[in-house]
Amino acid sequence: MSSIIEWCRKLATFSEEDGKTTRTFLSPPMHDVHRELSDWMRSFGMEVRVDAVGNLRGVLAGDRPRIMIGSHLDTVPDAGAFDGILGVVIGIALAEVASRRPHRPAIEVIGFSEEEGVRYGVPFIGSRAVAGTLDAPLIEMITPALRDFGLDPAGIPQCRFAPETSAYIEFHIEQGPVLESLGIPIACVDAIAGQTRGKVVFEGDANHAGTTPMAMRRDALTSAARWIVRVQKQAHTWLGLVATVGKLDVYPNATNVIPSRVIASLDVRHWNDEIRHEAVRQFTSRVNWTELLDQPAASLRVLDRTMHSLTSGAGHDAMILAPQIPASMIFLRSPGGQSHSPLESVLPGDVDAAMAFGERILGL
Ligand code: HGY
Ligand code: MN
Ligand code: MN
Repeated sequence: MSSIIEWCRKLATFSEEDGKTTRTFLSPPMHDVHRELSDWMRSFGMEVRVDAVGNLRGVLAGDRPRIMIGSHLDTVPDAGAFDGILGVVIGIALAEVASRRPHRPAIEVIGFSEEEGVRYGVPFIGSRAVAGTLDAPLIEMITPALRDFGLDPAGIPQCRFAPETSAYIEFHIEQGPVLESLGIPIACVDAIAGQTRGKVVFEGDANHAGTTPMAMRRDALTSAARWIVRVQKQAHTWLGLVATVGKLDVYPNATNVIPSRVIASLDVRHWNDEIRHEAVRQFTSRVNWTELLDQPAASLRVLDRTMHSLTSGAGHDAMILAPQIPASMIFLRSPGGQSHSPLESVLPGDVDAAMAFGERILGL
């Protein structure tokens, strides 16, 4: 349904940066996304609210147990137009179809406020509030952002999903090359790899780049570089493990000053939690490591065993809800395997296939 693609392309223009799609946790353009999607949902009778952590939530009444359908509204910097928001738009489109049926499941469409973890380095804030697993230190850290957005953290306990919710379904682009290589438009996700995220601090001595002999330097960035090369080499030890240093904060970050401090991010993923934990132990031995997230791998409910199924290396909100309610994911093919990039795309025929699958699963 090209209208779904047009919706995603329009919502991608609501951004913190001109000419790019960057929409992080509770940033101003999130109000614009809430307004547009709320108007659409209310146009066919959904009750809409924004919860205490900024999740957008629309409910359509029905005569069968409630099903939650959603994904995330936030993006990485300079993102594509489909990661996350496609699953919210498909959810609303399915609810609109359901609104024309006399018999249907109740449907809650949810647009999570924070899945990527860009603003605070910690992902899944929106879905953890819905799962009831936000911890006090994290709530304390995000409270200024909540208040700036006009939200009240006292309402966080009411974010939890309704007790009558029977299942969670998330439509999402694959963000990888598998479906395209197999020539398959959509597939079920059977598991999501676990992930560790954290940071390593390297200390040095700031000094003059022009007058300090090489043998007398304590260069924090050189230490970080040696560690990064070690991690990349060691990561090959375990089949299927991925390790990424994606962010470096260099201080004082001037071309003519020897770096005195570097904060390096580390993101480690594997479908086996023991392997991931062992890899992280080896990567972080003898460095100043702070763990920010240890997210176990999750098994998902496969909705149609006649379809191809695959494991996701990318994390998704479904893994946060899976320990509490049956959670399922449907991947749509990623042309070129591209994602977390403006080149990210999705094919109209694959969106139609996802809609047809959703209508079948919902009994519409
Ligand atoms: O990083 C991820 O796994 C996803 O994009 N949230
Ligand atoms: Mn993403
Ligand atoms: Mn995503």
